[in-house]
Amino acid sequence: MMVKRCFAAGVCWTLLMGCVFAAHAVTFEVTDGNSTCIKAELSASFSISYNTANGTSVVWFALPSSAAVGSSSSCGGGDVPPELVVSFGAGHALALVFTSDRWLYRVANISLQYNLSDTTTFPRSSSSRIVSVMTNASEISARLNSTYRCLSSMSVSLSTEVNVTFSDVRMEAYMNGANLSTNESVCSADQTVTTAAPTLSPRTTVAPSPIPLPAPERGNYTITDGNGTACLLALMGLQLNITHHSKSLNKTVSKVMNLQPNRTTASGSCGVPRATLMLSEDLTNLTFTFTLNLTTQKFFLSAVNVSAFWPDMTDWFVEGNGSLNFLQCSVGRSYMCSAEQMLAVVPTFSINTFRLQLQPFNVTANRFAAAEECRVDQENMLIPIIVGAALAGLVLIVLIAYLIGRKRTHAGYQTI
Ligand SMILES: *[C@@H]1O[C@H](CO)[C@@H](O)[C@H](O)[C@H]1NC(C)=O
Ligand SMILES: *[C@@H]1O[C@H](CO)[C@@H](O)[C@H](O)[C@H]1NC(C)=O
Ligand SMILES: *[C@@H]1O[C@H](CO)[C@@H](O)[C@H](O)[C@H]1NC(C)=O
Ligand SMILES: *[C@@H]1O[C@H](CO)[C@@H](O)[C@H](O)[C@H]1NC(C)=O
Ligand SMILES: *[C@@H]1O[C@H](CO)[C@@H](O)[C@H](O)[C@H]1NC(C)=O
Ligand SMILES: *[C@@H]1O[C@H](CO)[C@@H](O)[C@H](O)[C@H]1NC(C)=O
Ligand SMILES: *[C@@H]1O[C@H](CO)[C@@H](O)[C@H](O)[C@H]1NC(C)=O
Ligand SMILES: *[C@@H]1O[C@H](CO)[C@@H](O)[C@H](O)[C@H]1NC(C)=O
Ligand SMILES: *[C@@H]1O[C@H](CO)[C@@H](O)[C@H](O)[C@H]1NC(C)=O
Ligand SMILES: *[C@@H]1O[C@H](CO)[C@@H](O)[C@H](O)[C@H]1NC(C)=O
Ligand SMILES: *[C@@H]1O[C@H](CO)[C@@H](O)[C@H](O)[C@H]1NC(C)=O
Ligand SMILES: *[C@@H]1O[C@H](CO)[C@@H](O)[C@H](O)[C@H]1NC(C)=O
Repeated sequence: MMVKRCFAAGVCWTLLMGCVFAAHAVTFEVTDGNSTCIKAELSASFSISYNTANGTSVVWFALPSSAAVGSSSSCGGGDVPPELVVSFGAGHALALVFTSDRWLYRVANISLQYNLSDTTTFPRSSSSRIVSVMTNASEISARLNSTYRCLSSMSVSLSTEVNVTFSDVRMEAYMNGANLSTNESVCSADQTVTTAAPTLSPRTTVAPSPIPLPAPERGNYTITDGNGTACLLALMGLQLNITHHSKSLNKTVSKVMNLQPNRTTASGSCGVPRATLMLSEDLTNLTFTFTLNLTTQKFFLSAVNVSAFWPDMTDWFVEGNGSLNFLQCSVGRSYMCSAEQMLAVVPTFSINTFRLQLQPFNVTANRFAAAEECRVDQENMLIPIIVGAALAGLVLIVLIAYLIGRKRTHAGYQTI
């Protein structure tokens, strides 16, 4: 009885200390000579199950503020990837290995080494081994030259016995300066945190009802030619709708996401008969191909390709359609559509466009040419015209009726 009570008190104390520690993110910096390559501020807590003489126990503890950058950390080089190793306690270490491509860097693998002979952390452990666990399924990725930010907590399972929960994370790898970039790549959990209050409501159900997204912000994307003159102009708000298998729900879901202009970089090329616009956000690449038909003197959106790896996807989503005919417009003009328009690319992928104006050919003086409006806009414009015309007609009829009436009464008076 006594033992049990002590044990329970110990757990409470550990939890309490964990909370206290978890509130304080610890800062780590990996340098190579004088230059910083990785900087990370983070809180982490660990949940580890281990064997004791009487069965399995689970401990929960936070990364202590005394944790320090381990000597095996490195900025990498050649084939060696950059790695942040954080050492703490009696021979425990948490390691993050990074990789990058032209646009993004990501945590390619997370590992933990823990020492079961540390009886303070692992009371009555039946083993005194050093255990290493590792996963390469991490959702941590960010644009190069930006700081990855995720204040929400994020759990990663390193094995069936070990879970790590990160929170208050701000970090950057492949840095150019000594300070974290002010430009941020915000994790998806932080983006939705304002619309949902998941932790406070005990009634939060397993299947969250989808919150209708607000209309996306309008992006201003410009491609310039070799001389720095604009050759492709696009102003538009984009919403992507991908139908994929959800890892957490184990079923097919349609996920809708707004492209955030301030986190999107535009690149591409101009030319005849084809111009391309490529938009890259942290976890999404989108390519639009416009084709000019010199016979008909029309241009149109002829192909769309997408590649995405959103949280909760089981695999990369890569799709495209090269035989589209959307957004057709006369050459020398710009295409405009203020109304929302859906572009069905493939059955599992569509794009909703908002307040769109674009011109992929014959751009002069960095400005849009006269606009050709889409059908919906023309119809929308027709409604006020029809209503106006009907009102004018009504006014005219009333006026005529009044004049006729007046004439009649006038004539009536004269006969008397
Ligand atoms: C670091 O900076 C100091 C002073 O700026 C310089 O003397 C030293 O050579 C630098 N070391 C390396 C490894 O770049
Ligand atoms: C780790 O997380 C999984 C899934 O949330 C859970 O089933 C498991 O019990 C956790 N393990 C530990 C040691 O906390
Ligand atoms: C574990 O076993 C020891 C004796 O082997 C016993 O004294 C102790 O109460 C047990 N602890 C728990 C939590 O059951
Ligand atoms: C990151 O910044 C460096 C130096 O400022 C630059 O050379 C590089 O092209 C940038 N990379 C990206 C993807 O913006
Ligand atoms: C779009 O960006 C260009 C250049 O950055 C600027 O000249 C233009 O005014 C912007 N257009 C809108 C509608 O913001
Ligand atoms: C760039 O400018 C040069 C000189 O002004 C001109 O000859 C050339 O055609 C221009 N190229 C493009 C792609 O506009
Ligand atoms: C997303 O696509 C699915 C499947 O095509 C469709 O049922 C749903 O209405 C779409 N949602 C939006 C907001 O476009
Ligand atoms: C997912 O669902 C399929 C059938 O719908 C089932 O066979 C499979 O075991 C499930 N996987 C998990 C991990 O629950
Ligand atoms: C991007 O825009 C959103 C919405 O306007 C804003 O909340 C966010 O702070 C911006 N992020 C950056 C890095 O500018
Ligand atoms: C985006 O494109 C770049 C360059 O082709 C590629 O390295 C990166 O993995 C792509 N990212 C996504 C999310 O598709
Ligand atoms: C241009 O349009 C005409 C008429 O629709 C079509 O016959 C022709 O094949 C098109 N040309 C190209 C290069 O797509
Ligand atoms: C648009 O550009 C194409 C190719 O440069 C050219 O053939 C065509 O005459 C131009 N049309 C207009 C209306 O400027």
